[in-house]
Amino acid sequence: MYEKRMKPDTVFDETYWSSRYNTGRTGWDTGSITPPLRNYFDQMGAADARRILIPGAGRAYEAEYLHELGFSQVHVADLAPEALAALQQRVPGFPAAHLLLQDFFALPAQPPYDLLVEQTFFCALDPTLRSAYAQQCANLLRPGGKLVGLLFETDFGPSSEPPFGGTREEYRAYFEPYFDFVHFDTAYNSLKPRQGKELFMCLRRKA
Ligand SMILES: C[S@@+](CC[C@H](N)C(=O)[O-])C[C@H]1O[C@@H](n2cnc3c(N)ncnc32)[C@H](O)[C@@H]1O
Repeated sequence: MYEKRMKPDTVFDETYWSSRYNTGRTGWDTGSITPPLRNYFDQMGAADARRILIPGAGRAYEAEYLHELGFSQVHVADLAPEALAALQQRVPGFPAAHLLLQDFFALPAQPPYDLLVEQTFFCALDPTLRSAYAQQCANLLRPGGKLVGLLFETDFGPSSEPPFGGTREEYRAYFEPYFDFVHFDTAYNSLKPRQGKELFMCLRRKA
């Protein structure tokens, strides 16, 4: 069966994440946008997503890609200044005001976003926060707005540090109260090391 999660004895706060960047323990970092999100963004129209948020964005290759496609209201939120600085350095034209050095759970709900993008943020959270993650995503989106991205459906083994895995049945229960499921299935175009291990989700916030 799936991993027996050890109870995290660490608080995954700004100090924890900064130290992961500063010590190069960033195994999640793919160095560029991943194919499932690139394909999704490529078919997106300007009207689909005026205000976009990428929480737990890290070095934020998705933000860079969207910025280059011409989306001008892309916001990234992260606890680690090192992560946001990396985006700023790579993409000097990215609006500084859209770099939010803030806790996702404390982000204001107004004005609402049209699209939230998920990429290895959910799996980085203490699993006890999963329900709160789903609720905060719903708070931040307008009715009809979308939560799109990838969730690991795999067993990372017992660990007291991220990433934390899980199953689609578990995840469904967190999102069902707030979202309609447009798509929630194994991604067909994952990066090789992630093939068969991640779900592509497209959820629409209920009215
Ligand atoms: C595993 S990394 C993923 C980064 C990026 N999404 C990627 O795929 O490369 C998780 C990121 O979430 C950030 N993070 C963790 N908890 C957070 C929180 N409560 N609010 C905002 N960012 C957070 C960390 O600083 C880290 O950059």
